[in-house]
Amino acid sequence: AEAATTRLEPGAVPGAPGPQVKHGAALTSNLGVRISDDQNTLRAGTRGPSLLEDPFFREKMMHFDHERIPERVVHARGAGAHGVFELHTSLAQYTSAKVLTQVGARTEVFVRFSTVNGSRGSADTARDARGFATKFYTSEGIWDLVGNNIPVFFIQDAIKFPDLVHSFKPEPHIEVPQASTAHDTFYDFISLTPESAHMLMWVTSDRGIPRSFRMMEGFGIHTFRLVDASGRSTLVKFHWKPRLGVRSLVWDEAQKLGGVDPDFHRRDLAEAIDAGNFPKWDLGVQLLAENDVDKVTFDVLDATKLWPEEVVPVQLVGTMTLNRNPQNYFAETEQVAFCTSHVVPGIDFSDDPLLQGRNFSYFDTQLNRFNGPNWTQLPVNQPRSPVNNFQQDGFMRYANRPGRVNYEPNSLPGGTGHESSAAAGGYVSYAEPVSGTKIRARSSTFADHFSQATLFFQSMTEPEKQHIIQALQFELGHVTVKAVQERMLGLLANIDDRLVREVAGYLGLPVPSGSPNTRIGTAPSLSQERISKPDAA
Ligand code: HEM
Repeated sequence: AEAATTRLEPGAVPGAPGPQVKHGAALTSNLGVRISDDQNTLRAGTRGPSLLEDPFFREKMMHFDHERIPERVVHARGAGAHGVFELHTSLAQYTSAKVLTQVGARTEVFVRFSTVNGSRGSADTARDARGFATKFYTSEGIWDLVGNNIPVFFIQDAIKFPDLVHSFKPEPHIEVPQASTAHDTFYDFISLTPESAHMLMWVTSDRGIPRSFRMMEGFGIHTFRLVDASGRSTLVKFHWKPRLGVRSLVWDEAQKLGGVDPDFHRRDLAEAIDAGNFPKWDLGVQLLAENDVDKVTFDVLDATKLWPEEVVPVQLVGTMTLNRNPQNYFAETEQVAFCTSHVVPGIDFSDDPLLQGRNFSYFDTQLNRFNGPNWTQLPVNQPRSPVNNFQQDGFMRYANRPGRVNYEPNSLPGGTGHESSAAAGGYVSYAEPVSGTKIRARSSTFADHFSQATLFFQSMTEPEKQHIIQALQFELGHVTVKAVQERMLGLLANIDDRLVREVAGYLGLPVPSGSPNTRIGTAPSLSQERISKPDAA
């Protein structure tokens, strides 16, 4: 039988296996030499010592010894799938991005869903936010929409992220507890970080224990920009709306499943796709004219705030269908590398300080995860559009631009001939006027931490309110430090009177009278009038 190998060429189909062993084919080493026996080490006599000389033993063992790469520092546990995005409504009035303007065009995607807190081997059903990261292989390059199933975040400034993550990961000395139980360190941090109140409401609600990845909304969270060909910007928030609706487990189910079937969500996704029940989401946008930012009662740069859909309606523009499971978890789901900074012409960033920090963090952590910058050559991360530059070499680089010229500008044969320009479709950053004094402080418009938390809790149905109250009773009931429990009650007192009363009663602690936090900006955003669609250019 022939030993068949398939080489990974640039542009290969993501997930296509690398060196491939065909059924019945002879085993070979990685160097292509046929192996006569891969179950017995070369020895000096049948009962003698193993010989270091044995290249087949050494290769097999060395490769196994090096199988692990660092798991993601957050979102370590995930499940992925391939699919396609099809646009049905053009946003050409607002953006030049082809993925959002070419109606009917089909763009390949890879999506990775994840929990945030747990390690790679943790249970799927822990109470947590869920990652919802989408890689669009557009004709103009990679666009990553790296979102969650909750539309707001715990913190307003990325510089706090390492502290947030340290507080919710297992404690450093004995590495307990794992994800699903409350603990002192997380609530110590939260109780001292009132901006987290809004997301705390979402995580302790049923959204924190989804029934299925197929039944979750997705949110890009930050304000981004759409930019048209003339350079005009419109602010945008991105949404995924699941065709199966939003559904959750109840806490008892989530806990039991965590024990008996920790793979519940990843199996659910894979089985649905295998059975041809392809999950679908509609892509929605909320659009806000740059001039309208003063018309809303929150700061659009604050990632702890959502734009109420009653004020800024969500318009659906396209549909994503996940229709193919990965062939290999490691090659695709584990090695996929997302980053908020991966945008294409016509999509740009806002000055949200959380987004700006993320734009640095993902690329930086991936240098560690992939031992250098060449993960862009892995099939799952390769763009479908041409890649043409003079970056070269480094660990695991397997293809460089051929020829003599590897610099810019150049004029010798084989060079680029100065092909890069805005006129030729090159990325142009939005010409945002910027001025300011260097300062480490946030705008006072970021100071209202409670209005939307209150709005969220009070908009729940009675059973949903009870679930939030019970979740906080459970969580804070597992906090062992009374001062932390008391501070958390102070935070809840700013959100809703019944909420704090019922949690305090469960904990056997008094309802805080003079709350340590000051209620700021009580006007619920829903009282606002709807803001009309931004005008076309
Ligand atoms: C990973 C979402 C905030 C740093 C992820 C992933 C998602 C995500 C979905 C997993 C990507 C995958 O499946 O491979 C979010 C959202 C945030 C947020 C929605 C807030 C709006 C932040 C912040 C930072 C950060 C503020 C740091 C400044 C990271 C890092 C990873 C990660 C380092 C691991 C990436 C990797 O190893 O490839 N995040 N994140 N995130 N996030 Fe975030």
